[in-house]
Amino acid sequence: MSVLDLRRLTGVARQQALRLILIGPPGAGKGTQAAVLKDRYALAHISTGDMLREEVRRQSPLGLQAKTLMAAGRLVPDALILDMMAQRLQQPDVSRGFLLDGFPRSRAQAEALVSRLAAHNQPLHSVVQLDLQDEEIVRRLCLRRSCPACGRVYHLQSNAPIAAGYCDADGSALVHREDDNEATIRTRLAVFHEQTEPVIEFFRSVGLLQRVDASLPIEHVEHLIERLVQGALTKTSPLRTSRRLTAGKTRSLGRAVPR
Ligand code: AP5
Repeated sequence: MSVLDLRRLTGVARQQALRLILIGPPGAGKGTQAAVLKDRYALAHISTGDMLREEVRRQSPLGLQAKTLMAAGRLVPDALILDMMAQRLQQPDVSRGFLLDGFPRSRAQAEALVSRLAAHNQPLHSVVQLDLQDEEIVRRLCLRRSCPACGRVYHLQSNAPIAAGYCDADGSALVHREDDNEATIRTRLAVFHEQTEPVIEFFRSVGLLQRVDASLPIEHVEHLIERLVQGALTKTSPLRTSRRLTAGKTRSLGRAVPR
């Protein structure tokens, strides 16, 4: 990644379209907060987890490759994720702004994203880190239930549906995700600490990271994120470092970055 890439990544976001990343461990509340943000700012909500679950449901070639890894709490290989995201980021709705949820979560994915955004002159406004302790994550995910139709998430204690077992929004029967068992949650946490924390450090080093205490109640977290987003929309993000994230690039998301 060159200094030019970073300058483009962290420079003043001139366009109106808001571009955000929600990053954090599994169960920190990314999906919960994304549901609010996408409506408030009319953003394309791009969740790699949701996209992969849809591929699994359709039994596509990608879904068949991803299924076992997801069930085990392992990351799907970067090459597959980057191909999927290259296609998704070409969709017309992305031009009005986007919210990335669950991507990037490895160095290679971050590198590819930075290159693509620089090439398309699409600086990020903010990377919001939802920070939460491992033990609270285990508690949250073991009691999470999700709507297979609209994706809305619930918690059996802190965020229960009105009618037990059914989605408030569309009445679908709620499901317990296959990877929401304690053993798999702990594997997902280990993968997060090993592979995604360096990505968080990278965004911190370039001055884009904004941390939120995700242990607070949902509405409180929502309020804190809203304040950060409003601040990011009005302020210039300075270039704080030219440090490289990685020595070399493996894959890209679209056309090459002009040097
Ligand atoms: P993905 O679907 O992205 O899962 P994740 O990152 O593990 O995140 P979750 O969806 O589990 O949690 P969340 O942070 O959205 O929390 P939520 O809002 O639901 O990925 C799944 C798998 O796909 C991966 O393991 C991997 O295999 C693969 N994959 C996906 N992306 C990939 C990529 N880029 N590269 C490679 N592989 C990839 O909230 C959780 C619970 O807490 C809910 O019950 C909710 O009601 C509750 N809650 C939320 N906020 C609060 C709060 N403030 N207080 C109390 N409870 C709360």
